[in-house]
Amino acid sequence: MKQAHTIKSGEAFSLAGTGIPGSNGDGTKKYFQRLKKRLLVLLSIAFLVPLVILSVYFHVQFNMTLKNSSKLQLISLAESLTNTIDLFLQERVVNIFNLFHSSAFNLKPSQQQMNAFFQNLVETSSAFIDVGFLDKTGKQTGYAGPFSYLQGQDYSQELWFTALMKQAGNYYVSDIYMGFRNKPHFTIAVKQRVDNEIYVMRATVDPDKFYLFLRAIGRGRGVDAALTNEKGEYQVVDPNRGAPLEQSDCIPSALRDSGVMERQNDGNTELVACVWLREVPWVLSIRQPLNIAYADMYKARQIIIVATILVVVAIFSVILFSTNRLINRAEANEEARKELKTQLFHAAKLVSVGELAAGIAHEINNPLAIISSQCGVIRDMFDPEVGGDAHMKPETPDNIVNELDIVDEAVNRAKDITRKLLKSARKSEPRLEKCNVNQILDDVVDGLIEKEFQVANIELVKDYDSHLPKILLDPDQIYQVFQNLVNNAGDAIEGSGKVTLSTRIKDENIQVVVSDTGKGIAHEQMGKIFLPFFTTKEVGKGTGLGLGISLSIVESMGGDIDVQSMPDAGSSFIVSLPINFKEV
Ligand SMILES: Nc1ncnc2c1ncn2[C@@H]1O[C@H](COP(=O)(O)OP(=O)(O)OP(=O)(O)O)[C@@H](O)[C@H]1O
Ligand SMILES: [Mg+2]
Repeated sequence: MKQAHTIKSGEAFSLAGTGIPGSNGDGTKKYFQRLKKRLLVLLSIAFLVPLVILSVYFHVQFNMTLKNSSKLQLISLAESLTNTIDLFLQERVVNIFNLFHSSAFNLKPSQQQMNAFFQNLVETSSAFIDVGFLDKTGKQTGYAGPFSYLQGQDYSQELWFTALMKQAGNYYVSDIYMGFRNKPHFTIAVKQRVDNEIYVMRATVDPDKFYLFLRAIGRGRGVDAALTNEKGEYQVVDPNRGAPLEQSDCIPSALRDSGVMERQNDGNTELVACVWLREVPWVLSIRQPLNIAYADMYKARQIIIVATILVVVAIFSVILFSTNRLINRAEANEEARKELKTQLFHAAKLVSVGELAAGIAHEINNPLAIISSQCGVIRDMFDPEVGGDAHMKPETPDNIVNELDIVDEAVNRAKDITRKLLKSARKSEPRLEKCNVNQILDDVVDGLIEKEFQVANIELVKDYDSHLPKILLDPDQIYQVFQNLVNNAGDAIEGSGKVTLSTRIKDENIQVVVSDTGKGIAHEQMGKIFLPFFTTKEVGKGTGLGLGISLSIVESMGGDIDVQSMPDAGSSFIVSLPINFKEV
């Protein structure tokens, strides 16, 4: 059992090959311009979009890392400052404790002894303002310092005194307050049990000196520091920022935990780090303007942006350069290919003209013989010697006109043949116009081919869809395609057979099917029939160019050719032509 084979024109060799529309030079130029634009856009998207996404990603990651590192730097600065301040306060507490343990200590210190204590304290830190000794009732029994009226002062109702007496710990550092002297200061008080009685030694510290100390230990560009109590009141602060006991601009609740935050201050954004002291419930807040804190990040950002722009410009230039080169080469190749194709068309036409001429010589001889014999008949009518012949028609005008009609008919047939010959041999540029496919098929078969088929005992069947729309085609070229298919169909039939021409609409195409009941195409030949110069016909009969040229023409009009064949049963060539083909 023989098997049917099917092949799509695209699976075999195609002269059109590249799929570039075979139209005039302007169309090709436009096509290449469009191709260039598309290539540029696609390549740019393929290369630049991932690059930009990556740059943005790294930019964001890098920014985050640098921001975090700036924040970490500020908080670690704040932590080291709080450690130093805690140490400072601890040292001051120890200084006061030492007074209890000095050899000169007694429970009723004289003024001289108090002065010596004060001297001792000032030598360890210039921040001390004065020193006082109190008994458990809160009465200051000894005092040395600038406020001598505080000698004998009762501190039993003072906050720091009650807190110290109440708590288990033996020292207390107060918040800043005005006190009896009516000047901001804070108290460091320690209690000591002597002979089962509690005594208190207290010294006051000057916040201004404390500020100088804070400023001396504070480092970092644009950094300033302040100490704030739990109520949000400044304890120690830069005079440009505020004054002691003023309400701080840091919200106390926001200061509850240690940490770093960005904050708006007078329209400027600043980075603020807060860390609580251990010795006293104060929070150290240090701040740095954002442009200084993030200076590294801004610099890195600028570098990344400039580098990304440079890389994008470089890549785009390479894409532009490569696309231009590619398109120029393709254009040059296309020119060469077109030239070759045109030459091939013409050569093939010349060959077929030769073949046609040979076949036509026979056809033209027929009308010539008829004309010659009609001339003889008319001449005989007027020849008196032949006049007696009984078979001879008399030379009446009607008889002469009848004979001349036969001559006319023969001349017309000869004219028809030469017209087709000329049409087939003319070298023409593609010329697209709205055509009726059925009409072109009729033009192909009417006359010579129909006659040849009759002689060869081949039945010609037409099965047209009469409602086909007119479509854009080059009528001469499509004529050549149909002519080749019909000739091939006829050549494939040995003895009698049938060739069917049908037309129909399928999807967005008009399909022209040329079927025959001929010998079919062997499976191994299916892939070759579109190759130029492939022929199974005897020498001088076929050139093997017909199908290659046909496919090239059909593809140039946006269509394709399918083949179905069964050996010994016949073949069908299906030409699909798009209804809405647009010239580019
Ligand atoms: N309808 C068909 N039935 C069987 N074989 C076919 C048919 N059409 C084409 N072929 C095969 O394909 C070959 C190539 O056809 P093509 O039209 O390209 O060239 P050709 O007809 O041999 O020569 P040319 O068309 O140049 O006169 C033919 O020689 C034939 O073997
Ligand atoms: Mg052929």
